[in-house]
Amino acid sequence: MAGIYIHVPFCTQRCSYCDFFSTTRLEEMDSYTDSVCLEIIQRQDYIKDKHINTIYFGGGTPSLLSKENFAKIFDTLYKNFDCSDLKEVTLECNPDDIRNDFFCKINDTPINRLSVGIQSFQDDELVMLNRRHNAEQAKEAVEKAQDSGFNNISIDLMYGFPQQKIKIWNKTIKEALSLNVQHISAYHLSYEVGTKMYSMRNKAVDEETSLELFQSLRHSLINAGFEHYEISNFAKKGFRSLHNSSYWKNVEYLGLGAGAHSYNGCDSRQWNLSNLDKYQQAVRKNGLYYEQEFLSDDDVYNELIIKSLRTCEGIDINNINNKYLDHCIRQSDLYTKEGILCKQDNFIKLSENGIFVSDRIIRDLMI
Ligand SMILES: C[S@@+](CC[C@H](N)C(=O)[O-])C[C@H]1O[C@@H](n2cnc3c(N)ncnc32)[C@H](O)[C@@H]1O
Ligand code: SF4
Repeated sequence: MAGIYIHVPFCTQRCSYCDFFSTTRLEEMDSYTDSVCLEIIQRQDYIKDKHINTIYFGGGTPSLLSKENFAKIFDTLYKNFDCSDLKEVTLECNPDDIRNDFFCKINDTPINRLSVGIQSFQDDELVMLNRRHNAEQAKEAVEKAQDSGFNNISIDLMYGFPQQKIKIWNKTIKEALSLNVQHISAYHLSYEVGTKMYSMRNKAVDEETSLELFQSLRHSLINAGFEHYEISNFAKKGFRSLHNSSYWKNVEYLGLGAGAHSYNGCDSRQWNLSNLDKYQQAVRKNGLYYEQEFLSDDDVYNELIIKSLRTCEGIDINNINNKYLDHCIRQSDLYTKEGILCKQDNFIKLSENGIFVSDRIIRDLMI
């Protein structure tokens, strides 16, 4: 398995909570596409056998790309990689981009999964988030995608907004379930420095409310037939995100575009410049546009803990380097006694009570 991530750092307006790398300079989108195509050519040897199984367009707002941009990118990918066994090709979409003409743009592409950023079904919350859509538009967007034949749709929700009440969150969960989507990602709001939302952090919900919101989400989705397969991710049977699952399973991936990260599946990571002009200039000169780090044994062990403890399978003890085994078992035994971690065969995983305090446990198991 190997994956390709393509970062599309353009948004028509910035949401009040988001600090992902993106710009509103939409006029740069065509030249950026050309730069990404050049990067594909320059980095075609990054994936050892050139065989790719998943592609993920993330943003920013990749649903803003034009038909011509999609055609150029796929054309270049097909010429430089073996795409004969593509299993999942995801496009992150903003609901207001899913209009009737949207499907013409992607008809000729292998995109077979949409991830729609809905965030909330409450109009007042959407205004606070500075989203471009309202709740009705969000529902219509998903229904349009379903009508046009997409049967692998994910939606993003957020919770833990300033002073959010459980009653309102439950309404959002109900609306989400009524859409019959195959996958739901739900993220607790984090107050990022430099965002407008940061100034509202004094109104943040307390930990007890956060836990109540999370438990309600988990129980409602599990009751509706979803599998809680990663802390923030829920899927109907057979619809886990293959691409994101590869991140958690240490599969190699190449990240293309400004700010994108790559991992060689073994001992090194690269990250591209998070600056549109510098990235494009460097790609055109075939210069250096990424930084790189080599992972020590400690790094590899810590990453294994961070990634696998977030998944429902947990840590496979067989994958732990012998030199860290004692430490891992000793630390995890403390939590097993408290009922926060549990052991099953070769695996150590979070119990239901542990999921919400996972950050602390992960820290304690790390070196
Ligand atoms: C980078 S965004 C891209 C998706 C798409 N542009 C959109 O806005 O719908 C991916 C997801 O991260 C989540 N997200 C972004 N900032 C967040 C924050 N500060 N706290 C929690 N979740 C956040 C949102 O749910 C969002 O849909
Ligand atoms: S949440 Fe999505 S649309 Fe909003 S600023 Fe971030 S990337 Fe752009």
